[in-house]
Amino acid sequence: MNAITVDNLVKQFAEKRAVDGVSFEIAAGELLVLVGPSGCGKTTTLRLLAGLEPVTSGEIRFGERLVNEIRPRDRNIAMVFQDYAILPHMTVFENIAYGLRSRRTPRAEVRTGVPAAAATFRIDHLLARKPRQLSGGERQRVALSRAMVRDAALYLYDEPLSNLDAQLRYQAREDILTLHREKRRPTVYVTHDQSEAMALGDRIAVMNAGRIQQIGTGAQLYDHPANLFVAYFIGTPSINLFDMVVRGDGDGLVVEGAGLRLPLDPSVTERLRRHVDRPVKLGVRPEHLHVPRMAPFEVTEDNTVHGVVNLVEPTSSGSTVYLSLPEGPGGEEGQDFVATFKVRVPSSYLDQEIPLGVDMAKVHLFDAESGASLLAAERPVTAGANPSSGQEAAGAVPG
Ligand SMILES: Nc1ncnc2c1ncn2[C@@H]1O[C@H](COP(=O)(O)OP(=O)(O)OP(=O)(O)O)[C@@H](O)[C@H]1O
Ligand SMILES: [Mg+2]
Repeated sequence: MNAITVDNLVKQFAEKRAVDGVSFEIAAGELLVLVGPSGCGKTTTLRLLAGLEPVTSGEIRFGERLVNEIRPRDRNIAMVFQDYAILPHMTVFENIAYGLRSRRTPRAEVRTGVPAAAATFRIDHLLARKPRQLSGGERQRVALSRAMVRDAALYLYDEPLSNLDAQLRYQAREDILTLHREKRRPTVYVTHDQSEAMALGDRIAVMNAGRIQQIGTGAQLYDHPANLFVAYFIGTPSINLFDMVVRGDGDGLVVEGAGLRLPLDPSVTERLRRHVDRPVKLGVRPEHLHVPRMAPFEVTEDNTVHGVVNLVEPTSSGSTVYLSLPEGPGGEEGQDFVATFKVRVPSSYLDQEIPLGVDMAKVHLFDAESGASLLAAERPVTAGANPSSGQEAAGAVPG
């Protein structure tokens, strides 16, 4: 049995539908990350789970028990709020102890539990201070300690690390994971940072415009995005997208467009036959473009694209290279794209045109209209796959 089941959850505020038919399950001991752009409904989903907002429709179950009508305090939830919601007139100790005391935890347990939780987040030297005497990062760690000290049925985190510097963020991430593995309680962790989602989530739910676009492990979302939105949201730098048309070519298929003509992998020919002469978006992740002599596959004329190097950005382990496709025959500007390499590309490549092999076995194809993947084995969990039907996020997807 699942620890938490959310079925077709809807939250309608006046004219705004913040949560629009969200369904997911969380296994006992699972950490589910909810990730998506600002305003997509993450906080609202958590507040519905916590009982801080009444649902418009849909069901929330803890085990088999329907909790829709259960008061927040009787749901036994520990939550870290986006604005941490710590109480200004109480000391750090009292803030951390608050949830324990309100549940009548024995004193001795409070006396030992609070400093231990504070020590986990390295604020045990601050227990006597008031919140106004703390930095933003320290306040955030008070909120984390307060949630972690509790033995709750469900843990909810709303972007708890946004105010920490990079070093502390990694540290706190580890602490959350360690504690999670000790307690093995169902957890929903909200972030808009996809690398944090990848690092923490047993599974990740990608949300846009009030709907879950896809749920899966980080690898599933990355390798088999169900639609354009997920493909574009997961992965840095983002996937390159080209407007193309599928064409027959002897026994096989090619995609044509943007001044390119690339052979599709024979393994996808059958599935794509009915898309011949239809517009598609070709998705190529930056790491699937290779310098020919270093490519893990055979680079030929056919699977090569040429790009003019606009910018070389060194990364910790290699380079990110920003390029443009060559000008069209009528002098039209070539589309920009990005490639990442595990080697350092010297800046002498600037303004040079270089050939890159495209790993055609790894490319993605999306229906130009609906945005749905034409290759993903699994179909999207919910409808509304087209990112252009979203709000803010739509602007994030080029073309
Ligand atoms: N009480 C409310 N009344 C009306 N609209 C609301 C209310 N709360 C949230 N909304 C709207 O619902 C949408 C979802 O808000 P929510 O806070 O869930 O987003 P979010 O994904 O947490 O965003 P962020 O990453 O910025 O925190 C937004 O458009 C927001 O303006
Ligand atoms: Mg929020």
